[in-house]
Parts: sequence; C-alpha cells; structure tokens
Amino acid sequence: MPFPLISSELISILRLVHGLFNFIIMLLLFYHTFNGLLIRRARRGKTPLPIHAIKLHRRMGPVLALFGGAGFSAGLILIMLDTGKVLQYPTHLFVGVVIVIMLFSTYRISRKIAGSSIPQRNLHYKLGCVILALYLVNVVIGIGVLL
Ligand code: HEM
Ligand code: HEM
Repeated sequence: MPFPLISSELISILRLVHGLFNFIIMLLLFYHTFNGLLIRRARRGKTPLPIHAIKLHRRMGPVLALFGGAGFSAGLILIMLDTGKVLQYPTHLFVGVVIVIMLFSTYRISRKIAGSSIPQRNLHYKLGCVILALYLVNVVIGIGVLL
C-alpha cells in the first residue's frame, strides 16, 4: 500500500492537531491537579471543604481520562495512516500506553474514595503525579517528532 494513505498536507495538519489537542489536555490536567491539591490541603489541614474544587475535580476527572485516551488513539490512527508502522516512534508509543493505563487506574481508584479513604487517596494522588510527569515527557518527545 502506498503511504501515506491520505494526502501529506492533511497528515501535516493532523500531526499539529494531535499535538495541540494533547498539549491542551496536559494544561487541563495541571488545572485538575490544582483542584485535587486544594481538596488534599483542606482535608489534611482539617479546614472547610472546597466544595467548588471537589465538584470540578469529580466532574472533570472522567472526562479528562476519556479525552486522554482519545488523544492516544488519534496518535495511533495517525501513524497507521502515515506510515502503517505502529512502532515508528516506540518511546512515544510506550509512554502513551503507560499514560492510558495510569489514567484508567487513577479513575478506578477514585471510585473507591469515600470519606477519609487515606490509602486510596494517597495512591490516587501519586498516580496522578506520575500521569502529569509522563505527559510532560510525551509532549517533549512529540515536539521532537514534529520538528
Ligand atoms: C483520571 C481522572 C481522575 C479522576 C476521575 C479523579 C477523581 C477524584 C475524586 C473522585 C477525588 C475525591 C474527591 C473528594 O474528596 O470527594 C479525587 C481526589 C484527588 N485527586 Fe483526583 N481524579 C483524577 C485525576 C487526578 C490527577 C491527574 C491528579 C493529579 C495529581 C489528581 C489529584 C487528586 C488529589 C490530590 C485529590 C485529593 C486526595 C486527598 O484528599 O488526599 N486526581 N480525585
Ligand atoms: C504536544 C504533544 C504531542 C505532540 C507534538 C505529538 C506529536 C506526535 C507526532 C508528530 C506523531 C507522529 C504522527 C505521524 O507521523 O503520523 C505522534 C504519534 C503518536 N502520538 Fe503523539 N504527540 C504529542 C502528545 C502525545 C500524547 C500525550 C500521547 C499519549 C497520550 C501521544 C500518543 C501518540 C501515539 C500513540 C502515536 C503513534 C506512535 C507510534 O505508534 O509510533 N502523543 N505524536
């Protein structure tokens, strides 16, 4: 089959769209973390609960997890249309796979948070930090691939 399967102009645009989309998701994850940290600080300092931050964090979490998965899938579809080789950028692919697994685990653990649930909260927080770090890594690798 002659690659790319679609025009190379369209591939260039979709590469940018994929990068921009994932970059925005990362920025939203930083904001999401900020809200999570407000919840954590209030709980540990035994100060009044930040109702607004709790509502936002609960609402945005599942949506961000889904959008994170969508950004990953878009990368996969793009590389298949472009080269047909899923292992074209193995590090970017591997970090992406770990991000998706971590997003799913963080979501699953968040469902078990009720009341104090200290071990679940701590684990959720640690996995969240790993997700953020991996996004930073994949954004840097992604920009390297783009340039
Ligand atoms: C995968 C998407 C996510 C979902 C569905 C989610 C959901 C939740 C839920 C339901 C809570 C409990 C809120 C409450 O007390 O009622 C929570 C707490 C928290 N989340 Fe997330 N979250 C997600 C991602 C993240 C990420 C990426 C971070 C970044 C570090 C994060 C940091 C926190 C923190 C710090 C808390 C407070 C834990 C504590 O009380 O010690 N979350 N999250
Ligand atoms: C600013 C951020 C990012 C940029 C600039 C970027 C850029 C790129 C580029 C240029 C490609 C190659 C597409 C092609 O040649 O057709 C690619 C592929 C891919 N991207 Fe990203 N990316 C970014 C973030 C992410 C993130 C956060 C994930 C995971 C959640 C991800 C997952 C993937 C996957 C799975 C592929 C296919 C790689 C392969 O199978 O070899 N990307 N990305």
